[in-house]
Amino acid sequence: MDERDALNISREVAKSVLKAVNSIPIGKRGEFYGIGKSGVTKLVDKVAENAALDILKRERLRILSEECGYVGEGDVFVALDPLDGTFNAVRGIPIYSLSLCFSDSENLADAFFGYVFNLCSGDEYYASERAFKNETVITVGGKENLEELNAIVYYPNRPLPFKRIRALGSAALETCFVAEGLFDCFIDIRGMLRIFDVAGGIYILEKAGGIVVDEKGNSLGSKRFELSERLNVVTTNKKLYRKLLELIL
Ligand code: IPD
Ligand code: CA
Repeated sequence: MDERDALNISREVAKSVLKAVNSIPIGKRGEFYGIGKSGVTKLVDKVAENAALDILKRERLRILSEECGYVGEGDVFVALDPLDGTFNAVRGIPIYSLSLCFSDSENLADAFFGYVFNLCSGDEYYASERAFKNETVITVGGKENLEELNAIVYYPNRPLPFKRIRALGSAALETCFVAEGLFDCFIDIRGMLRIFDVAGGIYILEKAGGIVVDEKGNSLGSKRFELSERLNVVTTNKKLYRKLLELIL
């Protein structure tokens, strides 16, 4: 499988998940479905996952998905978040997405394709060698002064000098918003994120010239596609990350 196949498959998954999610009225999305591999599964989570797996299971893929864990067999690994931003989707807040990361092994370091689809706007982000939004190349912003930053931060535990601070509720999309320069950084050091939330976005961000490290400045390259580990991320441009680490430690 190459990146062209990965893009075609991702687009089919996006179409299927979009249709499935939109078929559920907002008032029903949050109904309890069951306990999945990552905790409570809402009806909309399960419907999105089924729609994604309908497509992905046709391929020879080993898929790690938020609700059901590992399924399928194959040499290519996929970290799948069928619906990133469930809180928003359940309330009709229009910021939620689908995220996929394809890798030659269960390691993020061997990833070769990232895909994030904004299920509200229809915007598509993907990267193989370069990063794109809707067919246009994207790159991270270049700001260096902390006072000028438009930042996504979960949650500031001290005053930060940034110009603006937001928290939008879909880690996959928030990472892409940094990749395209809409925001200058996305910092989430609560120890809550999991690999499928951010793997697709991280790949896109790095190909857009950005950098992602944990709160100690370590690369996330050694992270594996697995359910139990919780991640911290500091995503930004290469000039800024040391300054940000000094601020948050
Ligand atoms: C959540 C979103 C959210 C982040 C949470 C994640 P989910 O994923 O990415 O932005 O703050 O920590 O769990 O549960 O909506 O797929
Ligand atoms: Ca998620």
